[in-house]
Amino acid sequence: MDRVVVTAPPKLNLCLDVGPRTPDGYHPITSLMVALDGIRDVVTVTGAPQRTLSCPGFDDPSNLAWRAVDVLERHAGRALPCHVAIDKQIPAQAGLGGGSSDGAATLVAVNALFRLGLDVPTLQDLAARLGSDVPFFVRGGCQWATGRGERVVPAEAPPFAAIIVVPPVGLATPRVYRAFDEHPPPARTPDLTVPATTETLMAWVRNDLWAPARSLAPELVDVESVLTSCGAGAVVLCGSGSGVAGLFATERDARRARPAVVERLEPAAWVSVVSGPSRPRVA
Ligand code: C5P
Repeated sequence: MDRVVVTAPPKLNLCLDVGPRTPDGYHPITSLMVALDGIRDVVTVTGAPQRTLSCPGFDDPSNLAWRAVDVLERHAGRALPCHVAIDKQIPAQAGLGGGSSDGAATLVAVNALFRLGLDVPTLQDLAARLGSDVPFFVRGGCQWATGRGERVVPAEAPPFAAIIVVPPVGLATPRVYRAFDEHPPPARTPDLTVPATTETLMAWVRNDLWAPARSLAPELVDVESVLTSCGAGAVVLCGSGSGVAGLFATERDARRARPAVVERLEPAAWVSVVSGPSRPRVA
């Protein structure tokens, strides 16, 4: 085996409760995260004489896929020379976790290519060194994330579909959290009960970063009203934005609503239909 191909899905935070900033600069979160089907990046790792990365537009050493190989080399105590090629479909700075998902897929692919034999908990520990969202993507599916996002446990959520709209404005995560700090909501007790049905899920989805993201990017308000008027049962910010998800009960409903959303928001915005939760990568 000298080549391993791993798909890297995007994610949606069906709930994102954020607590006040802690001295390490991060915010404690409680989030129900789901991996999505419909779009994905593809990470291909091939044995090579030295490490190279091809990821058009993002092929510098800050790429989490490059850093994933660094972390594995340190853990293994040896060089793991390979070429990492990333075919990207997931838009950047949209809150969909594309870069984090690529990082996790690279950990999984390099582990397999070099037969390192690392188990899921070990890969999740290594993933936490890359970023708060990366451990989730080692397994995918549906999980509760706590801590700064790096502590994950498997969960279940009812099926749903969504139209994701990414307006032509990127939002960097630290900026949105800084805006959150200006008007933090009152503290609440974490509630880890997940609605049992798609219908009750619609009334339950929430994201504490909505208000700060809207204050930085007022165009999100238009996106929200277009999705609502096109029939979305709920509208929620994707992570820290700038993507916005309009939820529908079924993929058929979302596909039926898509042309009206496209007509009002494309070509400026990127519009795509997804569904979730996708099957976990490992049981
Ligand atoms: O962990 P990651 O590198 O993805 O985080 C990027 C930035 O997002 C952090 O430096 C921090 O400013 C912010 N962040 C936060 N609280 C979290 C996760 C991220 O404040 N739980």
